[in-house]
Amino acid sequence: MKMRKHLSLLIATAMVATVGLTGCGGGRKATTEPEDSKPAAAESSTQEAAATESGTQKPAAGFKEGATIGVSLPWLGTQNWKEAEEMFKTQLEAEGFKVIIQAADNKVPQQQQQIESMIQNGAKVIIVGPVDGSQLGSVLEEAEAAGIAIIGYDRLLENTTGVDGVVQFGSIKTGELQGQALLDGLAKEKGKGPYNIELFGGGPADPNAPNFFKGAMSVLQPKIDDGTLVVLSGQTDFTQCATLDWDNAKAQSRMDSLLSGFYSDKEIHGVLSPNDGIARAIITASEQAGQSIPVVSGLDAENESVEWIWSGKQYSTVAKPTDALVGKTVDIIKSLQAGNGMPKADTSVNNGKKDVDVYELPPIVVTKENAKEAFANDPDRLSLLK
Ligand code: BGC
Repeated sequence: MKMRKHLSLLIATAMVATVGLTGCGGGRKATTEPEDSKPAAAESSTQEAAATESGTQKPAAGFKEGATIGVSLPWLGTQNWKEAEEMFKTQLEAEGFKVIIQAADNKVPQQQQQIESMIQNGAKVIIVGPVDGSQLGSVLEEAEAAGIAIIGYDRLLENTTGVDGVVQFGSIKTGELQGQALLDGLAKEKGKGPYNIELFGGGPADPNAPNFFKGAMSVLQPKIDDGTLVVLSGQTDFTQCATLDWDNAKAQSRMDSLLSGFYSDKEIHGVLSPNDGIARAIITASEQAGQSIPVVSGLDAENESVEWIWSGKQYSTVAKPTDALVGKTVDIIKSLQAGNGMPKADTSVNNGKKDVDVYELPPIVVTKENAKEAFANDPDRLSLLK
């Protein structure tokens, strides 16, 4: 193969290119990468050579200050993504980078095109929160071949070699917190069991959604098995409970059907909800059906839900502060820019094609009881607690 034939020449070219980049202020040489820098710094010389062959430089060798960074978000339908859009812009611009940020309105082809244009516009790093974790393989591999670093943001990039790391809050842990909050809330607010509950999952294309559900079910399933919890609809598989595109309206109409189908003469005590928008849809449907408000879990600490938690309408949420996640991503970009490669990861996960480094932050469960404490450093949310 052509690449093999020209391997030594290409390696030599790569080294010259690296030295050249260092000379123009791009940071340290790839050869001085710390041991734990990976995966970019640890890439084989074949890959480095391949990148050089296409006329670009692996980011492990550093790149110019003020370079272009692409940020591709799945949609702006929940508060966390709107915050991410704003905070990436502010934080990256403060570091002197040029930023291209686009959101894909939950449409895979739109996201593929947006990433394609970030590649064409010379992005050195592309941050991706995928609409569908497994549908970006080829465009990400194209970016990889062009020597661009690719970092998954909040959601895993599946089934592709085109990913250098993922920054996220533990998704199984998030689900465990949601399941435990539901159980605690039932015991606190609904007297002695057994309790009637229903289960909701997030958008099936989002790799987080099955993990949130799995984490929650690890807590809830034993209680279903021992009869403490009863799911009257019998719908306990993720596929039955998922909410297409994380669409609140779809969740609300499923809740309407569950209530009219199984609860016309029974009380529903609790509902597992994968995020705050869906939690509010579930609560609204319950109120409209004349139910007393069930204990409902959530995620994102969206402003409206923080207010509902404070007024007792929604039981819990899970906070995963966007500024911290964006900050962590920006630190990785700065490390790449300086030629220090990917920092040491917290853990790794197999995405179907490779083990991906994961940079993980801890999610925090929030109820009325600990809300003041949880938002002590978040003046905006703190101001909602009144
Ligand atoms: C995010 C949640 C968000 C959901 C819908 C998930 O991947 O982790 O924070 O609520 O997508 O946008």
